Amino acid sequence: MKRPLRPGSGKGFAERLAELDEIEVRVEKLIEGGDGFARFEGIPIFVPRSAPGDRLRVCLSEHRPGYGRAEIVEILSPGDGRRDPRCPYFERCGGCDLQHLDYETQLRAKVIATRETLLRIGRIETPPKVTVVPGKPWGYRLRTQLHLGEGIRGLEAGYFARGSHELVAVESCPVLVPELEGALDGLPGLLGEVAHKRIDLTAGDGDSWTVSPPVEGLPQGEVKARVGDFVYAYDARCFFQAHRQLIPALVEHAVGPPDGEDGEADKDGGTAYDLFAGVGLFSLPLARRYERVVAVEGDRVASRYARRNARANQLAGVEVERRAVDSWISRLPPKAAHVVVDPPRLGLIHNVRKTLLVRRPRRLTYVSCHPATLARDLGQLRSGFRIESLTLLDMFPQTGHMEVVAQLVDREART
Ligand SMILES: C[S@@+](CC[C@H](N)C(=O)[O-])C[C@H]1O[C@@H](n2cnc3c(N)ncnc32)[C@H](O)[C@@H]1O
Repeated sequence: MKRPLRPGSGKGFAERLAELDEIEVRVEKLIEGGDGFARFEGIPIFVPRSAPGDRLRVCLSEHRPGYGRAEIVEILSPGDGRRDPRCPYFERCGGCDLQHLDYETQLRAKVIATRETLLRIGRIETPPKVTVVPGKPWGYRLRTQLHLGEGIRGLEAGYFARGSHELVAVESCPVLVPELEGALDGLPGLLGEVAHKRIDLTAGDGDSWTVSPPVEGLPQGEVKARVGDFVYAYDARCFFQAHRQLIPALVEHAVGPPDGEDGEADKDGGTAYDLFAGVGLFSLPLARRYERVVAVEGDRVASRYARRNARANQLAGVEVERRAVDSWISRLPPKAAHVVVDPPRLGLIHNVRKTLLVRRPRRLTYVSCHPATLARDLGQLRSGFRIESLTLLDMFPQTGHMEVVAQLVDREART
C-alpha cells in the first residue's frame, strides 16, 4: 500500500498532485469560508460548493506545497444536506457559496468551522457553548455592491464570477431585501451612460433605498432604519449591518437586552467605549446603560452620522471621536466599565490588543465578521480575559460568512 504523502512534504507533495488530473474524493466537512475539505493520499484538497458527505470526481485546479484545490466534475453520490440552488446565477456568480446546502446544513457547518478555527488558530480548546442565532435565509440583505461593465446588450450590472473579475450580469438576487432585488431589474437602463465601475445600494425602512455614487433618476442621500428603540440614519457610503431581521439580535448580544428587561436595573455610572463604531449602532443602546459613551470611528461620513444619530435620539452622553482606533487606543483608561470592538475583517492590530490587555476593561465585547482573525485575537486576549460566551449570528445565509459575538470579562475582576 502506498504511504500517504504528508502535507508540507514539499516538492514531492506538489508533484504528486501535479501528476494527477481528475481524482475521486469524499468531502469530510466544510471549513471556514465554505469550501469542502477532503483528503487524497493524505493531502488536503479544498473543493468549493461541495457538501459534507459528497463523493465527488474532481479536477485539480491548484497544486500547492501543502494542499490542493479542485473543482467538481461529477457528483458520484451527494451528501445529505444537498439541495438545488434557488438562484439561476449560482453556478457562476461569486456572491454566494452555500446555496447548494439546506439551511440546517449551512448552520451546522458554520458552527463546526468556527470551533475548528478557534482551536487551530487561537488554541482555544474548549470554547464555551456556542449559541447559534439563525437568520431569515432569503430576502435579508440590506446592502450590496454591484459592478458595472459593458456587455453584449450594453451596460450591465452584477457581481464578479467566482475567483475572477469577470462580470456576471444579474437581474435578480434572492438574498437581497425585496426593494433592492426589485431595483435590479431594469437598473442598467436607468444607469445610462454612467462612468462608475461600481455602485453601492443600501436599503432603509419602508421600501426606501439609496445609491452611491449618485446617479440621476435613482434615489440618493440618507435612509433611516429603526432598531429597537432607536432610529439610525445612514447612506450607501458607510457601513451598516447587512441582515435586516437580525440587527436587533446582534445589538442585544453585543450590548445586552433592551431597557425594560434588565437595562435600567443594570445602569452603570461608568464609561463605555464603542470602538469601530460606524454610525453608532452599539453606541446608542450603550448610552442607555452607561453614563457616558465614547464612540471611535475612522470614517468621516460614518462618524458624522454617529454624532447626528446620538443627537436625534436625544442621547447627550455619546461623544464621537473621528480617529483611527490604532492611534486613539492609548487614551483608553484602565478598568473601563465596557469596551465593544467591532473591527473590519483584519481584526485588531497588535497595539490595540496589547493596550486592551494592559488597560483591562471589566467587560470586553468582540464583534467579529471573520472567525480567523477573531481566533488570533482571542488567543492573545485570553491571557487577561475569560471568554464568558460565544454567539454565532448567521448574518450572511447562503454564504460562508458569519458574525460572532464574544463576551469577555477581566480574569481578575470580582464577579
Ligand atoms: C465592521 S464595521 C462596524 C460598525 C458598527 N460597529 C456597526 O455595527 O454598525 C467597522 C467600522 O470600523 C471603521 N474602521 C475601519 N478601520 C478603522 C480604524 N482603524 N479606526 C477606526 N475605525 C475604523 C469602518 O469605517 C466601519 O465603520
